Amino acid sequence: MTAPMLGHLDPVFLEVLDEVCDKLRNLFHTTNALTLPLSGTGSAGMEASFVNFVRPGDPVVIGVNGVFGERMCEVADRVGAQVIRVDGEWGAPLDPQSLLRAHRHPSIIAAVHAETSTGVENDIAALGAEKGDALLLADMVTSLGGIPVEVDAWGVDIAYAGTQKCLGVPPGLSPFTVSERALSRRVERPSSWYLDLGLLAKYVDTQLGARVYHHTAPITMIRALEAGLGVIASEGEEAVIERHRQSGNALQAGLEDREFILLAEKGSRLPQLTTVHMTKKRLGDRSEAQLRKRLLDEYSIEVGGGAGKLQGAIWRIGCMGHSARKSNVATFLAAFDAIMEAP
Ligand SMILES: Cc1ncc(COP(=O)(O)O)c(C=O)c1O
Repeated sequence: MTAPMLGHLDPVFLEVLDEVCDKLRNLFHTTNALTLPLSGTGSAGMEASFVNFVRPGDPVVIGVNGVFGERMCEVADRVGAQVIRVDGEWGAPLDPQSLLRAHRHPSIIAAVHAETSTGVENDIAALGAEKGDALLLADMVTSLGGIPVEVDAWGVDIAYAGTQKCLGVPPGLSPFTVSERALSRRVERPSSWYLDLGLLAKYVDTQLGARVYHHTAPITMIRALEAGLGVIASEGEEAVIERHRQSGNALQAGLEDREFILLAEKGSRLPQLTTVHMTKKRLGDRSEAQLRKRLLDEYSIEVGGGAGKLQGAIWRIGCMGHSARKSNVATFLAAFDAIMEAP
């Protein structure tokens, strides 16, 4: 990010951009021509997914077992979708059949792959296998680079991610990919000009020929993403995923050894995001927020509190990107023991 600035039409920068798009294709496991880093954080990817593919009144089935499924409903509603919300328990994976049966002809079926508010993985492949004529939309903000992601093999038509989770890059871009099948149903003139995929494609898609200026690319962010994706490529995707798996498992085992109860159901636990109940019994007179503050002030370790209806009830401990290392887990558990035992 401290490299000298380049212009957004400089041939050297365009090479970087093409490289980033290729590396994103590799990580998403897709051949989708339109694969790009959208300007904006993960939520820009979510917004682009609905604004480019939903026409007013379109039936859109959305699985909700956490805050980010809820946010999808809000975004879809704002673009005029007929939202068919399928609720699941927070802490358990969505039941794919209940989404598949929710409407006879949905235009989109949408779910969050890795629900960051609960630490649960939802089964996207099961939705893809029986999606029928619907487009399958998956939020991969917290999954990309942390657990296996297979856009083409799972039949995902639209997917977006974020840079600041398992890619270990500062926030500011949303890796995005869309299938030809979805593109053929694109809204011709979406209500968002900034996130109009038709206009964006003319700048990023080399197959379309000329690079037509749409908005100034966030050069520094794209170079940061290039570096982050380079780190993953040199370590090897499988090794990165294995590192996440091992550190998440070690953290979860450590918490269970201490008789803390994990929120996410066994079998659907995300290694990169561990959720643990903070009960009155374990906290005594202290609040969970006080303990998190101590962890930050005394040990420089920041963990998340509960989000949405889990606020005050759980902790969310991220083990993502560069921080997904067993040495960090050991440091965390030692600090955790110290503050739990302290008066
Ligand atoms: C699963 C999921 N979806 C969407 C978002 C929104 O991303 P951002 O905060 O980068 O806009 C997040 C952020 O934490 C997330 O975890």
